[in-house]
Amino acid sequence: MSLLEIDDLRVAFPGRGLRAKPVEVLHGVSLDVAEGETVGLVGESGSGKTTIGRAVLGLVKPSGGSIRFGGQEIGGIQGRARRSLARDIQVVFQDPYTSLNPSLTIGDILAEPLIVQGATAKDARSRVRTLLDQVGLPGDSVDRMPREFSGGQRQRVAIARALAPRPTLIVCDEPVSALDLSTQARVMDLFVDIQRETGVAYLFISHDLSVIRHISHRVAVLYRGDLVETGDAPSITSTPTHPYTQKLLLAAPVADPRKQQQRRAERERLTAASSA
Ligand SMILES: Nc1ncnc2c1ncn2[C@@H]1O[C@H](COP(=O)(O)OP(=O)(O)OP(=O)(O)O)[C@@H](O)[C@H]1O
Ligand SMILES: [Mg+2]
Repeated sequence: MSLLEIDDLRVAFPGRGLRAKPVEVLHGVSLDVAEGETVGLVGESGSGKTTIGRAVLGLVKPSGGSIRFGGQEIGGIQGRARRSLARDIQVVFQDPYTSLNPSLTIGDILAEPLIVQGATAKDARSRVRTLLDQVGLPGDSVDRMPREFSGGQRQRVAIARALAPRPTLIVCDEPVSALDLSTQARVMDLFVDIQRETGVAYLFISHDLSVIRHISHRVAVLYRGDLVETGDAPSITSTPTHPYTQKLLLAAPVADPRKQQQRRAERERLTAASSA
């Protein structure tokens, strides 16, 4: 049984203006995530990636289909049932500068979810030390404020906060997109190490196929609210069958300028073919 089973998920937002019809942005998406697995969700801006993540987190109500977690239907459930799930499904967002409360110390940011769950102050302190260690931050970070950290370090704090309640699934929405390339690589390695240690599964959202290729076991390609291709990461990211994935692949940066030129030509050929 999969940890997360999304089946024929539809989401519609209210249309603008009087008597406007709702606008459907997900048209029946089906996607599974197994325990300990990383599923990369890739697609261009506006394709609906974040909306899928928000539906899984219970932040948008599906207009159709189902979302099961550990076999239990969670699409649209609220209140106490949702809160008990809340610790099992955590999230890391894109923006390291707005996702941490600027007026709390790192120690308080990490201890808060533990105390809410009923941990004693002493247990919370020792767990916070373990978490900091796990994400590669020094122990004296507990007394410091978010503004004293770089973007990459803040993402480490955000990852530690997500790990605090020992979730089985983390929705990662563009968690490395705001970081420079070398920081990006180190934070991705951290995600991989943590998964190895804890067995946590990731629904890993990115518009960047080179990030997705690096981190995912399986990849799902979203195009305007539909999944157009799903498969294991090596085959999707090297020999995609759908024209849209082929275009995404050609848009991913390469170091070799000659290869880049070849790709540009190939991309233009595909664009010409699809608009013909
Ligand atoms: N709360 C909302 N109300 C109305 N429309 C919305 C809302 N949230 C998202 N949308 C629309 O749903 C579509 C999908 O948006 P979504 O944020 O899921 O895309 P995305 O793939 O995450 O894009 P990006 O890569 O830019 O983050 C877009 O057309 C967007 O305008
Ligand atoms: Mg998004």
